[in-house]
Amino acid sequence: MAKPKTQFVCQNCGTVHSRWAGKCDGCGEWNTIVEEDPMGGIGGGPGRAPKKGRAVALTTLSGETEQAPRIHTGISELDRATGGGFVRGSAVLIGGDPGIGKSTLLMQAAAALSRRGHRIIYVSGEEAVAQVRLRAQRLDAANTEVLLAAETNVEDILATISEGKRPDLVIIDSIQTLWSDTADSAPGTVTQVRTGVQAMIRFAKQTGAAMVLVGHVTKEGQIAGPRVVEHMVDAVLYFEGDRGHHYRILRTVKNRFGPTDEIGVFEMSDKGLREVSNPSELFLGERNAKAPGAAVFAGMEGTRPVLVEVQALVAPTSLGTPRRAVVGWDSSRLSMILAVLEAHCGVKLGQHDVYLNVAGGYRISEPAADLAVASALVSSLAGLALPADCVYFGEISLSGAVRPVSQTAQRLKEAEKLGFAGAMLPAASAEVPKGTGGRWTEIDDLPDLVARIAGSSARLRQAPEDD
Ligand code: TYD
Ligand code: MG
Repeated sequence: MAKPKTQFVCQNCGTVHSRWAGKCDGCGEWNTIVEEDPMGGIGGGPGRAPKKGRAVALTTLSGETEQAPRIHTGISELDRATGGGFVRGSAVLIGGDPGIGKSTLLMQAAAALSRRGHRIIYVSGEEAVAQVRLRAQRLDAANTEVLLAAETNVEDILATISEGKRPDLVIIDSIQTLWSDTADSAPGTVTQVRTGVQAMIRFAKQTGAAMVLVGHVTKEGQIAGPRVVEHMVDAVLYFEGDRGHHYRILRTVKNRFGPTDEIGVFEMSDKGLREVSNPSELFLGERNAKAPGAAVFAGMEGTRPVLVEVQALVAPTSLGTPRRAVVGWDSSRLSMILAVLEAHCGVKLGQHDVYLNVAGGYRISEPAADLAVASALVSSLAGLALPADCVYFGEISLSGAVRPVSQTAQRLKEAEKLGFAGAMLPAASAEVPKGTGGRWTEIDDLPDLVARIAGSSARLRQAPEDD
C-alpha cells in the first residue's frame, strides 16, 4: 500500500492544499495552514491498526426526554437570551467588540450565580488580578465567593479548574489569550484558539460544568478562527451596541438548547450593566414627533415586541453621485426600497442624498421594517411630519405590494400599551384585534402608502407620464 501523503489544511476554513503556503486561497487568512496526516484522525495514528468499532443501541425519536439542566443567573435579560439560563455541560461563546462590556456582564453574572450558592471560576487572560478586582468592586461583586485566576495556559487552566469541587460555571476571558503547549503556533492564532476551546469544551462535557467563553470580534465582525469556534460550541451570543450609546444588546445567533431569536437588553451605567425590561421605552426616549422623516417601527425580537424610531433624511445632493448612508439597517434593503419607490410610485431620488438611521444605535434585522423605512423616506422628501401616534410595519416586495408579517397582534398590543393610537400595516394581515379602539389602516401597496402620507403633494410626483 502506498504511504498516504500528508496534506496541508487551513485551520480557519478547512481548505486542503497540496503544499504549505503562508496565505490560504480559500479564506484569505494568513498562517492558518498546518500539516496534517490524512489518516491521523481516523485510523488512530500511523502504524496502528484501525480499531474495530463497537455497535451502539439504536433508538426511536419518541420517548422520554429530559429538560436540559440549567443554572439561572437571576439576571432575567441574560437568562432570556440564553433560553433560560446556562446549560450544565455546555459551552457558550459570547462574542463582541473589545470594550463593549463582555467582562462586565460576565462578572455580574458570576457574582449573581455565586450569591445563589454556585461555585464559579473566573479565568482572566486579559487582565491582571488587580484589574479584575477593581471592576468587581465597582460592580459590587467583590464580596462574593467568585474564584479568580489570571492565567492563559490551557493545561494550567485545566489543572486549576479540575482541582477541588466541580465548578458550576467556568468563565474564560478570553479565548484569544489561550495557548497550549501541544500546539506550536503563537497565542491568538487559529490553531491555538481552536486547541484551547476544544480542551475547554471537553472539560465541560466531562464534568458537567457550564463553560462560558469570551471571544473578541475582529474588525470584519468575526471571531478569530470564527467558523471553527462557532461550530464547536453549543450556543453563540453576541454582545452588541454602539459605543456612543449606553445600551447593549445580547443577541443569540446559535443555541442548541433554546430559541435563537431572543435578545437581552442592558444599559451600561457607572455601576455596570442594568437590565432594561421594556426596551421600547428606551428606544423611543428622545423622540421629536414634529420633525419630518421619522417613523416608529413596531418590531419583534423573538417573542418580544420592540418599538423603535426610524429616521430618514432626504436632501438634494451637491455631489455627482448621491450618497446613501445607513446606520442600523441593511443598506441593500434600502437600495431596494428606493428602487421600488422610484419604479412604482414615481418618487425620484436619483438627485438626492439619502441618510437612514435607526434611533439609539439599535440594529433592525427584520424585513418588516420596510414600511417604516419607506414612510420615513417619503415623509422626509415631502417635508411632512408623520402622525406622532402611529406605528408602521410590513414587508415590501419588488412589485410594490405590502406583504403581511408575523405576530401582528403582539406588535399592535405593544403600540397601544405605549400610547400609539394608529398603525399602518399590511392589508390581509391575520390576527388584527378588532374593537380595541385603535386606528389600524391597512395598506395594499407602496403607492397607497405614498398617497396617504403625502396626499397630492406636488413635489413627490414629478414624472407621472409612465404610470
Ligand atoms: P468591559 O467589560 O471591560 O468590555 P470587554 O470585556 O467587552 O472588552 O467594559 C469596558 C467598558 O465598559 C469600559 O469602556 C468602561 C465601561 N464600564 C462602565 O461604563 N461601567 C462599569 O461599571 C464598568 C465595569 C465598565
Ligand atoms: Mg474584557
